[in-house]
Amino acid sequence: MSLSRRFASALAALALAASGLVLSSPAALALENGLLRVPPMGFNNWNSTQCKADFTEGMIKGIADLFVSKGLKDVGYTYVNIDDCWALPSRNSAGDLVPDPARFPHGIKSLADYVHGKGLKFGIYTSAGTKTCNKAGFPGGLGHEQQDANLFASWGVDYLKYDNCNNQGVDAQQRYKAMRDALAKSGRPIAYSICEWGQNQPWTWAAPVGNLWRTTGDISDKWSSMIGKAQANRGLAQYAGPGHWNDPDMLEVGNGGMTTAEYRTHFGLWAMMAAPLLIGSDLRKVSEDDFAILKNTDVIALDQDPLGKQATVLSANAGLVVYSKVLANGDRAVALSNETASTATISTTASATGIGAAPSYTLKDLWSKGTRTTTGTISASVPSHATVLYRVSSSGGTRYEAESATLSAGGTVDSNHAGYSGTGFANGANAVGSSVEWQVTGPATALTFGYANGTAAARPVDVSVDGTVVAAGVPFPPTGAWTTWSTVTRAVSLAAGAHTIRVTATTADGPANLDYLDLSR
Ligand code: GLA
Repeated sequence: MSLSRRFASALAALALAASGLVLSSPAALALENGLLRVPPMGFNNWNSTQCKADFTEGMIKGIADLFVSKGLKDVGYTYVNIDDCWALPSRNSAGDLVPDPARFPHGIKSLADYVHGKGLKFGIYTSAGTKTCNKAGFPGGLGHEQQDANLFASWGVDYLKYDNCNNQGVDAQQRYKAMRDALAKSGRPIAYSICEWGQNQPWTWAAPVGNLWRTTGDISDKWSSMIGKAQANRGLAQYAGPGHWNDPDMLEVGNGGMTTAEYRTHFGLWAMMAAPLLIGSDLRKVSEDDFAILKNTDVIALDQDPLGKQATVLSANAGLVVYSKVLANGDRAVALSNETASTATISTTASATGIGAAPSYTLKDLWSKGTRTTTGTISASVPSHATVLYRVSSSGGTRYEAESATLSAGGTVDSNHAGYSGTGFANGANAVGSSVEWQVTGPATALTFGYANGTAAARPVDVSVDGTVVAAGVPFPPTGAWTTWSTVTRAVSLAAGAHTIRVTATTADGPANLDYLDLSR
């Protein structure tokens, strides 16, 4: 779609939304460059070198080498990005930016070629101002957008971080759109990172402008800074999605200023928040412990989940914070994060994550790799500044409530006897042949019926699968009261796919009150 058509359709969608006729989804208005459908993973030198002399071509090539030799490329790290201080203080006579020959004696194209030769991508930096942020005053892109975008494209740049310094008070949206349009015209797909520090609430306007936008000022390598970025970013989940991400700044993992627990919290929360995972440490000096954090594939999988949902905060009480992230396969990721100075128990429930009712859930601890099951409570003792990360999946199978089943004539869905799950239970007619029928999805090896029987006699049923009786006259014994619920389980061999499960009363009493049917494997 051309730029003008893209704007026209975006404007039309906005006008319709404003008129109240339709609700346009934010994704429909996202930047249409097709890039960063999952958050970017890679490296940027700023947090480790700033403008120091060790920021050189040799360092960056070494990082690209380590991406391969240390297995970082294999787990998804792709972008090798350079930050401020790569250029000379003046443009050349043609008005082009010039790489500093002391740092980059072979120029930027040669470096990008080297990075590409490793199967990786290359990113660069400039500012939406007259100069970049460093006090040495390197030239910025304001008023030079197309020339600079074309130069970057000619060098093989794949990613641009566009900063906010020396912006001359020009409107932010105008400045960042100018570079977006210039990149689009450069003829090369270039991921576009808006580094405006959250000053003009870019989450409210930048989805059609950039692939990610900083939501905060600069991070530093200490707990207070890092957790402050998480706190500022975590309320913005609704604005993130494939191709347009909130950016709470680059990683400090490996730079030495935080404990292992704190770096795990940093990495884990960034993954929960679908934030960019841009390593900010000099990988030549990083400890094996910190490599293990950066290479934790279970945590990376949360960040790179194709659904692209940022975690939301389920609760935050005096520094004890529960985050939940919806994942593409229906699982949930839950973070129990302790921002306080002492160990504390942090708890939530499977139900609070919206995962849906199930007889039990598997909790996989993404740091220890241990698994355990729970019927609903998700709780852990969490040391100071640590974060327990669980991947939560329905392990016991799937629950089908009786209130969503089909009842034969005379049956009703009631809720007058407490203790049922969901919103009620099936009260079948008191007659031979009275039935309750569920549409379910296999596979399963057992059927478990939740029920209550407040009478003194068992209420037997025939259980059929797809019209064939697989268990005849199964008794549902008395439970002592209509408010006392119990279960009856029968083994079954249910193949994958759709099935009909029916219970049919064989006596004039009809079936017991039925609460749910659990399918389990
Ligand atoms: C700003 C940015 C940082 C970094 C520096 C470089 O402070 O926010 O991420 O790029 O500029 O000068």
